[in-house]
This record gives sequence, C-alpha cells and structure tokens, in this order.
Amino acid sequence: MPRPLHLHHAFAFLLVASACQRAPTPSSSLGATGIPPRRAPAFPAGWRLPAGEAAAFGEHFMIASNERRASDAGNEIIRAGGNAVDAAVAVGFALAVTYPVAGNVGGGGFMVIRMADGRAAAIDYREMAPLASSRDMYLDAQGNPTNESIVGYRASGVPGAVAGMAEALSKYGTMPLARVMEPAIRLARDGFTVDSSLSRSLTASRDYLTRFDAKDVFYTEGQALALGTTFKQPALARTLQLIADQGPKAFYGGEVGDSLVAAMQRGGGIITRQDLLNYKAEWRTPIRSTYRGYSLFTMPPASSGGITITETLNMLETWDTLPAFGSAAYAHVLASAYQRAFIDRNSKLADPKFVAVPIDQLTSKAYARALARTIDLTKKTPTPPNGSQIADGMHTTHYSVVDDKGNAVATTTTLNNGYGSAVYLKNVGFFMNDEMDDFATAPGKPNMFGLVQFEANAIAPGKRMLSAMSPSIVLDQKGELLLVVGAAGGPRIITATSQVILNVIDHRMNLSDAMRAPRLHHQALPDTLFYETGGLTQSAQDSLRVIGHGLRFIGASANVNAVMRVRGGWEGVSEPRSGGTGGTSAR
Ligand code: DON
Repeated sequence: MPRPLHLHHAFAFLLVASACQRAPTPSSSLGATGIPPRRAPAFPAGWRLPAGEAAAFGEHFMIASNERRASDAGNEIIRAGGNAVDAAVAVGFALAVTYPVAGNVGGGGFMVIRMADGRAAAIDYREMAPLASSRDMYLDAQGNPTNESIVGYRASGVPGAVAGMAEALSKYGTMPLARVMEPAIRLARDGFTVDSSLSRSLTASRDYLTRFDAKDVFYTEGQALALGTTFKQPALARTLQLIADQGPKAFYGGEVGDSLVAAMQRGGGIITRQDLLNYKAEWRTPIRSTYRGYSLFTMPPASSGGITITETLNMLETWDTLPAFGSAAYAHVLASAYQRAFIDRNSKLADPKFVAVPIDQLTSKAYARALARTIDLTKKTPTPPNGSQIADGMHTTHYSVVDDKGNAVATTTTLNNGYGSAVYLKNVGFFMNDEMDDFATAPGKPNMFGLVQFEANAIAPGKRMLSAMSPSIVLDQKGELLLVVGAAGGPRIITATSQVILNVIDHRMNLSDAMRAPRLHHQALPDTLFYETGGLTQSAQDSLRVIGHGLRFIGASANVNAVMRVRGGWEGVSEPRSGGTGGTSAR
C-alpha cells in the first residue's frame, strides 16, 4: 500500500513530543504584569476566524456573556456599587429574559466565585430528578431510550437557577435580590428590541417550540418574532417581580411554584410541590489544581467539568513543552488526554450524594502521570467500540464577570437543549429544562450528545444529573487573577474551555486569538477525533490518520465567553463563532 510522504514527518513530530515529556517546571520570564508576553499564533490557511482581532477592553471591569443587554445589566449593577456576584446574578436573570434559548429560571447551573481577598467558592444549582422519577422511566418496552427525556413535560428536572442565584447573592453579594433583578424585570416588562440573533434562533426552533405554548408568545401566526419588534414578556416580568419581592420561596412554594406544578400536572409531568420544597442549591468546595504554576478553580460534581479538565491538564503537564499549536502531535496528545479523562468521567463521576466520587485520586498528579504514560506517541489507543454520534448544539450559556475590585465569577447555566424541553409555562413566562437527558437514561447507550455514561449516573429520585459545565477561574504564577472562562456545548464545554486555557498558558496567545483558534474534541465515545472544519492542515490530518485517528470535521465546537487580565485592565471576548454581535460590557 502506498504510504503518504509525510509519514516520516509525522513520526518525527511525535518523537520530538515524546522527548519533551518530563516533569513540569514553572516557566520563568514573567512580564511586569505577571503575564508572560503573548505570541502571534499561526492558524491554518483558510481557517475562518483570523488571528489578530481586537478584544473588548475595560480598565475597571469586564463582563462577557452571550447577550449584550444581559451583560449591560451586570454593568449597571457594578456602576451602582455592586460586586461581581451582584453583577453575575443580574446577568443571570437578564439572560432569562433576553436569551431564552439558554438563559433561564426554569433550568440550573454552576457558579465558581473567587473573591479578591482570596476566598473561593462553588455553588451547585443543578436540577434534581423529581421524587417520582425512576431509573428506567425513559425506556420503551424493548429497553431503548425514548425522547421523553428531551422533549415535553416529563423531561424536566427540578429547576435550581432561582435558588442558586439567590444563595450566591446572599453569601457573596452586597445588594438585595430586588435590586440586582431590576434590569431583568425592566427588560421583561418594558420589552427589548428583537435582534437578528433572537429572531433567527426562534425561526430555527419553530417546529420544536410551536408544539407547546411558546407558539403564542414567540410566534405570531407561526412566524418568529420579527427583527426590530419590541418584545415584552408580562408573565415573566410578574414572575421575576414576585421573586424579587418574596425571594426564592415565590418559586419553590409560592405562586410561581404552584403554577409550575399545575402546568406539570396538566401536561403529564412529574414535578410536584414537594420536589420544589425539597430543592436546595449546594455549596461545594471548588476543585483547586495547578497547571505549570498557574492555579485553577473549577467546578466539582455534580459537574464533571472541573475534574475532567484537571485530569486532562495534569496529563498534559507531564510534557515539559507541548508540541506546537496546530501540529499533528499536539492534536494527538490532546485528544489522547481527553479520551482518557472522559473514560473516567463517563464511568466514575456523578452526584456525590449518591456515588462516592474518587475526586482526590482523579485529580492527583501521580494518577495523571500514570495515565499519560499510556499515551503512545506513534499510535492512537482505541476506546472500546460503540455506535455513539455527537450532536451539534450550543444551547447553554456561560458568562464571566470581573469587577473593579478584582472579584471574579464564572457561571454556566442551561436548559440543556435549546429552549429546554420546549415546554413554555405561559402563566409564569418561562421555558422548562430537559436536563433529565444528562442522566444515563439507558446506561451504556449514548445520550443526546453521544455521551456514553454508565450506572454511576443512572436516574434516582433526588439525584443531580452529571453535567459537563465548566465555569473556571485561573490565577497566574504570582497568584493574581488571570482568566475567567467557561462554555456552552455539551461535552465540548470541557474541551473548549480547557483549550482556551492551554492557548493562553502554553501557546501564549492573547485572549482574542485564544478564542479564535481552531478547536478539537474527543470524548472517548464515539472514538473519534473531532476538529473544527478548516482548523487543521492537510498534512496534520494525514499524519493523524496514519497513527489511527478517525477524524471528523464539525462546525462550531462550543460557545465560550471569557475575560482575561491585561496590562492596565481587562479584555473580554464573547464567542466569535456565534455571529459575533459582542456580548461584552465594560468600563
Ligand atoms: O450540563 C450539561 O453538561 C449539558 N446539559 C450542557 C448542555 C449544552 O451545553 C447544550 N449545548 N449543546
């Protein structure tokens, strides 16, 4: 069989990478800011997001989210004297109004906080399986998963967003809930102008959403809200006002909750009043790790994000210097590390209340060294075969906030699928999540994201479904806040978030380039190396195929929003892949 000419180059690359695998040493040459100088990256010819674009800059503070008016809500709060937590909660509620595809009160999320005084915290407001749920509730008579975990009234877990945001605010914020909710209430009550991103999103989801009550609010005669319309949401404004006036109990026991439960009963859902009363946001200890002398604060279970990122970076740290960005060797090393970390993720991680998660072992440097030694630089290691496929979608939302005192908040929140279960509660004005699909609804079989998960993450009443959400905060080698980052994109949240971190730390890119750089993804199963279309040179592709990678090309990999410290202030970048309308707000 003819062998491609570049074969020897591929091996040479990979062997060079091998020679570099030694114990980590923190890099020296810090600039005056504690941030090593940035380097211009070389992206493949034809890559659609050119390097060298400017980021948004703020001398005092920066907010990066998927929607500018939501970021502006946080801006207003910081200008009024609030801190990053006040602002984050303002952004969260505003996203529920202006970014209904993922912003929510009917879903859940995770928030990592790092205060300028050094305190760090993580809050888990993930949805919980209702009491009436059961392990096999989404299986048909043949034992195959149905789509009831994705669409309709039975797909929802008990929402955590309101409890989580209120709890974060009460512990780390400085303002009353009613104050930080003001911008969101205004946006819902007085309306906001429908932009092309909302109009397009609704058009794309028309078939999904018009089967339930959203058809009367987001569509007129079957057509999505038109560009330029002022969109008012009186029912949502009223819900938000009740929460502002009465606190989370309006949602978890009061009028809003009663309306939610009544709608569930009408539609065949299983969330009860008792489920709402039982719901609590949980404070967790952040996963704290180091990478080449930088410190990371990430999200522990019920999210897999922090452990999977930490495990991956710990493996990569065994290379003194990683292979060059864009090389086959780099893609191979990265994909192999992700593959190993996802194998652990998919089998060992779950709600810690139900499953003993070996966090210390999985995040230890010694464990990562042992795993890294199993990476063969001349050959890809197979994951046992399985028919899973991955699905596109970026319907979660991450926002990063740094205030004028250096407090930082990373929050990721979701309804899971875009517009969640498609169930819109018209009396209270919000969409319900379909987070139940994040459980292993059929252990060993792929879910909506092609993730193959096992018994640890099976459904049980009161359990939180495993997430990939990865809100993360990075400090530089001097312990100063450097980067606040996280993403939407199902399992690709983990790979995209960690690649932005690698682009900043290893490849010394500035934030704009770090966000624009082509991304890859591997999640163990399907056993495929995914790469963004146009993001890998032909010769790197050929080399990867030679060593056994099944390569597949995908559209946008994930949706990241990040803030990074630079000389004299903060840079913010909202995901350049999502139309680039700019979701930053700063001063
Ligand atoms: O928690 C999780 O991991 C998922 N529910 C996130 C879903 C997501 O990012 C949707 N976009 N593809």
